[in-house]
Amino acid sequence: MRHHEVLVVGAGLAGQRAALAAVEARRDVAIISKLHPLRSHSGAAQGGINAAVGKEDSIDTHIYDTVKGSDYLGDQDAIEFFCREAGPTVVEMEHYGTIFSRAEDGSLARRPFGGQGFPRTIYAADRTGLALLQALWERLGTERFTLYQEWDLTQIVVREGRVQGVVAFDRRTGQFEGIAAKSVVIATGPAGRIYGRTTNAHTCTGDGIAAAYDAGALIKDLEFVQFHPTALLESGILITEGARGEGGILKNALGERFMGKYAPHVLDLASRDVVSRAIVTEVREGRGFPGDFVHLELMHLGKERIETRLQEICDFCRNFAGVDPVVNPIPIFPAQHYMMGGVGTNIRGETNIAGLYAAGEAACVSIHGANRLGGNSLLETLVFGKQAGLAAATYAASASAPQLNDSDVADAEAPVRRMMSRTDGEDPQAIRTAMQRTMDQYVGIYRTESDLLEGLRQIRAIQKRFEQVRVVDRSNVYNLNLTDALETGHMLELAEVIVVGAFARTESRGAHSRVDYPSRDDAHWMRHTLARKTPDGPNLTYAPVGYTRWEPKERVY
Ligand code: FUM
Repeated sequence: MRHHEVLVVGAGLAGQRAALAAVEARRDVAIISKLHPLRSHSGAAQGGINAAVGKEDSIDTHIYDTVKGSDYLGDQDAIEFFCREAGPTVVEMEHYGTIFSRAEDGSLARRPFGGQGFPRTIYAADRTGLALLQALWERLGTERFTLYQEWDLTQIVVREGRVQGVVAFDRRTGQFEGIAAKSVVIATGPAGRIYGRTTNAHTCTGDGIAAAYDAGALIKDLEFVQFHPTALLESGILITEGARGEGGILKNALGERFMGKYAPHVLDLASRDVVSRAIVTEVREGRGFPGDFVHLELMHLGKERIETRLQEICDFCRNFAGVDPVVNPIPIFPAQHYMMGGVGTNIRGETNIAGLYAAGEAACVSIHGANRLGGNSLLETLVFGKQAGLAAATYAASASAPQLNDSDVADAEAPVRRMMSRTDGEDPQAIRTAMQRTMDQYVGIYRTESDLLEGLRQIRAIQKRFEQVRVVDRSNVYNLNLTDALETGHMLELAEVIVVGAFARTESRGAHSRVDYPSRDDAHWMRHTLARKTPDGPNLTYAPVGYTRWEPKERVY
């Protein structure tokens, strides 16, 4: 049995920042990651990180934009804390060595992003996440901690009302191991691969959220799924909002700049839920291109600007779609991009289980409410990663020794060995694909009662199929067939939580758009959904929204 004081699961920005805070608090810290930290999905964030550092901007405007963007479901006290931390967080990351793009006068360059009153998004060309990740990894590398790399989390052990540690398996040996820990921070990112069409990496399978759900943690607001308006047509690769921030425009097949109909004041830079719905509406009403897409045009920006500010998306367009944004429009359509929901926490990253913390996209504080603004998620990883690491360190300093036993490891391993010993049953990939098709078709941008019911029926039928999942590969070394099965099981649990929450929420708010309930209903639904696992599926309860000084208004862009 291995022992640590603070165990962080996930090595993206939130996990690394949590680990750094806990190391600086002089605790014995370990990180488990299923991939090399520099390959974490944080590195795929392109467009930037928000901080109201411009002379014309203010922290209050950042708070207001975030509250409005959340469609009044974000907790205003948490949003105030978050926006106040933004400036110091960006400065800290610059001191750690992040190479941000500069304006002519040498100050931090900022670009406009959707739903925001001022250019507030600080960036490193269109590789901001990667620049932050590299700088933070270098900083963390100067400290002492243990890294369990290419380990998969299978279980969080909770007994006597508190965390005792985790069970995980080492892909290199196939051995299941117990890691006792006084506190555990879940920072495993999103579960975007629940959907087939997504900007998320193949690794985004919600492992930590599902393990927390299994352990009794409350999962908050998972029905709020963000669809990014501009994903490349076939592949779903993200084309950063920074492209519209630089002046890119959307056009339909009639050559119309259609966003004027949907967001007359800010056009292409409305919030993501608004722009995604607009694109889907244009296509459904017959104004899309054959093959169902619209165009993002950058050509008018000129070669130099495109190739310096949007280097990575130039490569993506040329290599994956065969179009050159300098001379061709980019074919785009929305794709799943972000989960506003996650493991429910407060601003210290504390969950409803003593010793269990969460941060980053795996968590729901909630600052994004029903719709996240672009540029707020990189900031969230760092602000709340630090808070969760500090809180986990403080808890670990006074907690008694955790009790993790060999039987905990055996209990976690047994169902996995059953999957590997089956002689018939289905391959996990077939089950995963069925889940993705169901979620794409029935739980997308526009939702209806009948679609959600059908989606739920199908997800539950697919869960039944998963009970007979068969891992054909019996080897113990880098058994990716087994990893596939474990990840698919995690995603199926969370898919059910999404659908059940979406079915229950009979209103439209932010990214949750019910055709049969088209209005926001503050009287009944200005509240957070909390899902708890039961043998009969998720049990939903509701919690009030944290409220300070921003009255709910109709959201117009
Ligand atoms: O469009 C983008 O670059 C994505 C940014 C974000 O999700 O914050």
